[in-house]
Amino acid sequence: MKQKKLLYTGKAKSVYHTDVKGTLIVEFRDDITAFDGGKKDTLMNKGGYNAGVSAFFFSCLEENGVKTHFLEMLDEKRMVVRELSMIPLEVIVRNFAAGSIVRNYPFKEGSPLKPPVIVIDYKDDSRHDPMLNDDLIIALRLVTPPELKRIKTIALRVNALLSGLLAKEGITLVDFKLEFGRQGKTIYLGDEISMDSMRLWDKKTGESLDKDVYRFNKGDVMATYQVVAARITKKQKSGAAKKAVAAPKNSKKRAR
Ligand SMILES: Nc1ncnc2c1ncn2[C@@H]1O[C@H](COP(=O)(O)OP(=O)(O)O)[C@@H](O)[C@H]1O
Ligand SMILES: [Mg+2]
Repeated sequence: MKQKKLLYTGKAKSVYHTDVKGTLIVEFRDDITAFDGGKKDTLMNKGGYNAGVSAFFFSCLEENGVKTHFLEMLDEKRMVVRELSMIPLEVIVRNFAAGSIVRNYPFKEGSPLKPPVIVIDYKDDSRHDPMLNDDLIIALRLVTPPELKRIKTIALRVNALLSGLLAKEGITLVDFKLEFGRQGKTIYLGDEISMDSMRLWDKKTGESLDKDVYRFNKGDVMATYQVVAARITKKQKSGAAKKAVAAPKNSKKRAR
């Protein structure tokens, strides 16, 4: 597979054409941003940690019947994916109140959200990703009503699988963001599932294990990403990941 022309460069990843039809290469760069791009840095190896964790989760999800764009890793930072026509939605699943939901609504930080809350934002930096509701999503013709239902079902399935997997490593999946896209009529999970797109808390210490360390200067960001990436992916080779994913029949309970 050959990397061809640059298609798009975003805040943290660059997307390239390839010589294979219907595929793209996503390069996870070492750039990190927060607060709508207001805070920016380049952190050595960050791209590799996020790429590794994303590849690991996409593989686990595929093994459990979730269709993702992930095809293979070319090297530590470059992922071959299905070329999708992206749907400009940020699908956020929240298991505990944290971040913007605490700033905007009277939730107490860390309070459990049972059942999980799905929030969908319009992915548009120039508009600061405003929150949508079902009627707006349909009126904007971003997806059809059955597609919206399907996207929510997939998001909750991903939540159950990832919560179970992370719980086995002593990590609480507080919330995370997904992006979806279409290839033909099929909807695939795209983009990334990484420390930049999830909010993770250590079950024992309550410590942040994600981009909040960068946002709020909570410590050594790269040391955190390195340890979390190793903690999440280390069991991949032993096959334990498969077991961990298969286990949570009652994942809502296990996840918390
Ligand atoms: N499989 C895919 N096909 C096409 N585009 C994708 C795919 N997966 C992710 N993307 C898009 O590629 C971009 C990734 O780069 P990123 O730095 O995250 O950009 P952004 O700043 O727009 O969030 C995103 O806009 C994302 O929607
Ligand atoms: Mg992005």
